Order: sequence, then C-alpha cells, then structure tokens
Amino acid sequence: MICQDRRVSAPLSVEPGFVDRVREAFDRADYSASGLQELIGGYALGPIDEEARMAILRRTTGGSPLEALVRLFLAEEPVDEKIARVALAPLTPAQWADGGLVETDGERVRGSVRLRSFERAAGGRAIMASDSWGTKEQAPDHVLGIGSASLGLSHITIRRPVSRTLDLGTGGGVQAMDAALHSESVVATDRNPRAVNFARFNLALNNVPNVEVRQGDLFEPVGGDLFGLIVSNPPFVISPESALLYRDNPMEGDEFCQLLVRTAAQHLTEGGWCQLLANWAHVKGMDWKQRVGPWFEGTECDAWIIQSQVEDVEQYALNWIRHSAPSAEQASQEFNAWLDYYEGARIEAVGLGMITMRRRSGGAAWVRFDDLKQPLDTRCGEAIATGFELEDWIRAHPDDAGLLASRLAASPDAELQQRSSTGPNGWSVDRQELRLVRGLRFTGTVDWTTANIVAACDGTRTVGELFGDLAAKLGVERSVIATEGCPIVRRLIQQGFLLPAGA
Ligand SMILES: C[S@@+](CC[C@H](N)C(=O)[O-])C[C@H]1O[C@@H](n2cnc3c(N)ncnc32)[C@H](O)[C@@H]1O
Repeated sequence: MICQDRRVSAPLSVEPGFVDRVREAFDRADYSASGLQELIGGYALGPIDEEARMAILRRTTGGSPLEALVRLFLAEEPVDEKIARVALAPLTPAQWADGGLVETDGERVRGSVRLRSFERAAGGRAIMASDSWGTKEQAPDHVLGIGSASLGLSHITIRRPVSRTLDLGTGGGVQAMDAALHSESVVATDRNPRAVNFARFNLALNNVPNVEVRQGDLFEPVGGDLFGLIVSNPPFVISPESALLYRDNPMEGDEFCQLLVRTAAQHLTEGGWCQLLANWAHVKGMDWKQRVGPWFEGTECDAWIIQSQVEDVEQYALNWIRHSAPSAEQASQEFNAWLDYYEGARIEAVGLGMITMRRRSGGAAWVRFDDLKQPLDTRCGEAIATGFELEDWIRAHPDDAGLLASRLAASPDAELQQRSSTGPNGWSVDRQELRLVRGLRFTGTVDWTTANIVAACDGTRTVGELFGDLAAKLGVERSVIATEGCPIVRRLIQQGFLLPAGA
C-alpha cells in the first residue's frame, strides 16, 4: 500500500547487503551533484518547494533510471512500478520498501525519504537521506535534510586534522560526515532515535567508517570524554514551543545555547575547538554583547561570537512558523503565542550567528564580538582559526611601543575597491572600500592614508618606520600619527588585512 502519511515509519535498514546495493543503484544512475545538476539544474541543490517540484517533474518525463530516482527521492512523485524496478535494481521495489526507503502497492512506487546529493566540505560527493517535508504539519521527531544552517556550520568549521570530533545533534549526520574527513574518529549524537537511524544509514550509504552514532541528550552519550573539535547546529530557536526536536528546546529564552557553550567547554582538550550556531536574545535596554559575554566566564576558553543577522521578533517568529504551522489559523495562534512570550521576556529582537571557542586553560581568556553583514566564504574555517591567532598576537602586544616595533605584511586577500563619480574636474573618487576576497570577507571604507599604509606593509619595515615616513610627508610629529594610527592598525590586524610578518 502507498500510504497517505508521508513519514517513513519503518526504520531504514543499515544492513551492508542492503545499503551496498542501494548505493549501486544511485552510482549506476549517476545520482551525483553533477549528474543531478545536468538533469534538473539549480533544483539539484536548492530547497524543493511546490514550484521547484513542478519544474523538476517537467524535466524528468523520460523514464531513465536517473529521472525515476529524482521523481522518487527529490520530487516525491509516484513512479510506475516497471520504470522504478529498472532504476532500483539490483534490489526489487519490495526490498527497498522493506529497507524503509520506498512504499509500493505493486503498481506504483513512491519514495518514503528525500535523498539529496551534496559536495562534502573537503571534496567528494555524498548522498543524504532525510524526512520529506510532505505536508506542512511536521512530526516532533522529523529529521531535517541539509539546510542553509547545516551548510553555514559546515562552512565555518575549522578543518584542521584532529584526533576526536563530537557532532552534537547530528540529525542525518551531515556535520559528522564532513568531520570524518579530517578526524581520526567522530562521535555523532542525537536525542532523536529516528535521527540516529538516519545518520547510521547515511554514514553507511556513503562508506564513512570512522563515525560512531550514539543516542542521548546533550553530552550524556559521551560521559566525560574530551574532544579536539565539537560542532553543533543545535535546536537554538527562542520560542515558547518545545514540540519539534530539531527546532525547539525546553529551556527559557537563549538558556539552551548558554548551557551548551558552558558544558562544551568541559569536553574540550587543551587547544580544542567548539563551533556552534546559536541564537541570542536582544533584551530591551541591554546591549546583546553584555548579555552573551558572561556565558563564557570561567569556561577557560577564548570565544569569538559572530553575529550575522538580527531579526525583529515578528520577522523571526514568522520565519519559523511559516515552515511548521499546518494552517493559517494555527499560524495566527502560534504567532500570537510567540509574540506574547517575547513581550513577557522583554525580547525585542533575536541575534543569529556562530560561536567559536578554543580551550586555553590558565590564561586570561578573551571574548571577541563581531557583526558581519557580508556573506561568508564557503570555506572560512581557516580564517576563523587565523582570527584567533591574530587576536592572541594583539593581546601579546598591548602597548603601542610593541606594535610600532613590529613588521606587518598586507594580506594577499586584501583588495581596494574605489567608486568614482564625475564632477567639474572629471572623475573623483568618492568612496573606497578595503575588503578581503576570501574567508570572513571583512569590508570597510578607508581613507587614502589607511589604504596607503596597508599597501606599504610588505613585511620588511616596522610600523614605526612607516609612520615616520608618513609624519615627514605630512609635516607632523610621528607621535601624532601613532596615536591615531595604532588603533587603526590593530583593527586591521584583527580583521586579517595586516598579518604580523613571520607569525
Ligand atoms: C537543527 S538540527 C541539526 C541537524 C544537523 N546536525 C545539521 O547540521 O543539519 C538539530 C538536531 O539536534 C537534535 N537535538 C535536539 N535536542 C537535542 C538534545 N537535547 N541533545 C542532543 N540532540 C538534540 C535534534 O534531534 C536535531 O537532529
């Protein structure tokens, strides 16, 4: 029977004999990011809404194995049994149904899960099964596919070789799968038993041997274990709800994220990294940095908090409710309940961003905040690690004398962009922006003097010598330039435009 309830109820089989043959069918049909892109263009990678589905169906009318698999596992459209039989070989549709991947009534076959192909962070492709969205009404244990948040975390992850990694709240296992490429071993945990099943299936389907999946709440499945890297895309949403495991948490406001950072700190090896996505409340009359800063007190970790977006509470609530409310009436009820909750807690807006912590016991831990508006590079983990090293360097050179004696080099990623407009004397530059073309892509308007100082930093002359040249040119004392220039140079180092030579 093809049932109406689109959620897969049978667990996915992780038997090697089953999974190997499923992989064989996908490989033979070239169900890869490139194969899918050739067939259905950008729909291969983006979210699949009703419009995308219509376009995909129009492009998959030929009945080839790849077209049949796309209809089954991306468009969620029933396929004639004879066509499906060819695409699913060497196993039969009934065997795929026993393994939890399809439903069949003998005449038609329909996919029970969504299977998306994606490029892994360190290269190579993978296929990930997740629950299909089906109707809007979602079950509490819905298992998410790869979304923009999953990719966001993957893009900022520091991909240095590491002995042990923990992926907390693994869902379908996407972060664990990426971390497996640069970790000797990975532990992936989730409170949702269905997520644990999906993660085990996905890891087996993609031949990832060094990940162990465990079920349980927060850090309970790892006892007192320590990790060199902890990643988490947790259920960070601030709301009065606690129904959806992938979205909601049972704590007030942003306390769940606070608990996560404080507990994660206790599970890091010395020098180990913890990177997570988080939301934090902007409470009326209080600077968000003053609220979030104390989360890290006593953790023995340096912390860098990057806020990438701030949403007012109405927008924030709507963004989440539109995905989950099954009807307009329920959406309206939920919206009012969420807004009442924010009002009661004096929450005006929510900050969205990422937190990176590095364990450094015994030192004076630092906390840094940045508001980044620009889209980040798809691989900026190394830029984040470098950002920690630059922050360390700045704190090791607290006075101007140390800075003036240093040699700096302009980053090879720095670029100056000018915008000119016409005037009485022809073109005149009215705006110049210094930007990094890779990594965190810091951007800022600069004057000519600052732009020229960056260009003059070639690693051979000290900052003091460069300031001396400038002072002579302008006919002022070097100390005047230094007083104004040192804070600017520090900021340029912090953002990665200037790099300490030899550091
Ligand atoms: C937003 S999803 C992230 C899935 C996946 N890691 C990704 O990046 O796409 C959050 C996951 O955390 C899990 N989760 C929720 N509460 C948890 C808890 N207390 N302990 C462990 N996992 C939890 C959910 O079941 C869900 O799979």
